[in-house]
Amino acid sequence: MSKYLVTGGAGFIGSHLAHALIAQGHQVVVADSLVTGRRENVPAAAEFRELDLSHIEAARKAVDGCDYVLHQAAIPSVPRSVRDPLTSHLANVDATLNVLIAARDAGCKRLVYAGSSSAYGDTPTLPKHEGMPGNPRSPYALQKYTGEQYCQMFTRLYGFETVTTRYFNVFGPRQLATSPYSGVISLFIKAALANTSPTIHGDGRQTRDFTYIDNVVDGVLRAVTAPAAGEVINVASGGRISLLEMWEALRRQTGATAEPTFGPAREGDVQDSQADITKAARLLGYQPVVEFSEGLRRTLEWTR
Ligand code: UD1
Repeated sequence: MSKYLVTGGAGFIGSHLAHALIAQGHQVVVADSLVTGRRENVPAAAEFRELDLSHIEAARKAVDGCDYVLHQAAIPSVPRSVRDPLTSHLANVDATLNVLIAARDAGCKRLVYAGSSSAYGDTPTLPKHEGMPGNPRSPYALQKYTGEQYCQMFTRLYGFETVTTRYFNVFGPRQLATSPYSGVISLFIKAALANTSPTIHGDGRQTRDFTYIDNVVDGVLRAVTAPAAGEVINVASGGRISLLEMWEALRRQTGATAEPTFGPAREGDVQDSQADITKAARLLGYQPVVEFSEGLRRTLEWTR
């Protein structure tokens, strides 16, 4: 049994990790500012520390006594970062450096960092593999990319073990459709269940490697102990579907009849995104455990 810090453990991905660790018998500390996270997502068995990690003292309090750090805290959303780059910079870059320093100084064994597929940007090559150079197109993408570069530098320079798991459009239960910045699947599920029109930014032919949450939990927990220090590893499903196809799948599963409304494409948006997951298979023994339509079915069930 080990003691884990999950930063952002009151948020969507972090709370799933916290619950999975507790189910495996580990001790869990959740650090979260509750800016985007929700207190009720934190498992009852976890110790909760309400902290703003953009201050170094807070980061030191967060890591205190922990063996491993799953650094999931972030302010997501490409358009939010385009509108307000400073707030997301503090949460995504300053806080990451603080958590790295604090975890290194506290003698933690390893930090697993939540990277983002947005680091690849809009390069035409598909699928995206980790050997490709970063090409961030938005403040959010640049911030998440900077975070992973810091992680790699901490491994090279200080010998502090880090692994970056690059996520690709994660969806599942507890992802809320409460703001226009919410993940597209949560917004489209809300529309499908109300039989109202979802808004498509652009022509809807953009594609994403939508990844069900259980796959991410499996990949991250593997990254804690795998021989992968200093590595950046895609954790995704390895497929891709367009927004139009995703809406059709939702219509089939819900019986919704509404047609989408089309609006202008978003600034900083990427056209196509699909992960090469051979590195995850090789280094982590990772294979997706829940495929897209089953993930969609489970998410619909939870939302209902
Ligand atoms: C990006 C990252 C992802 C990261 C996420 C964090 C890429 C390829 N992916 O996701 O790894 O976790 O940021 O926020 O960069 N859309 C609509 N209608 C809506 C909402 C969204 O058409 O109501 C469109 C967007 O314009 C976009 C797609 O749906 O083309 C996906 O949007 P979203 O769910 O916000 O995620 P990304 O920006 O792709």
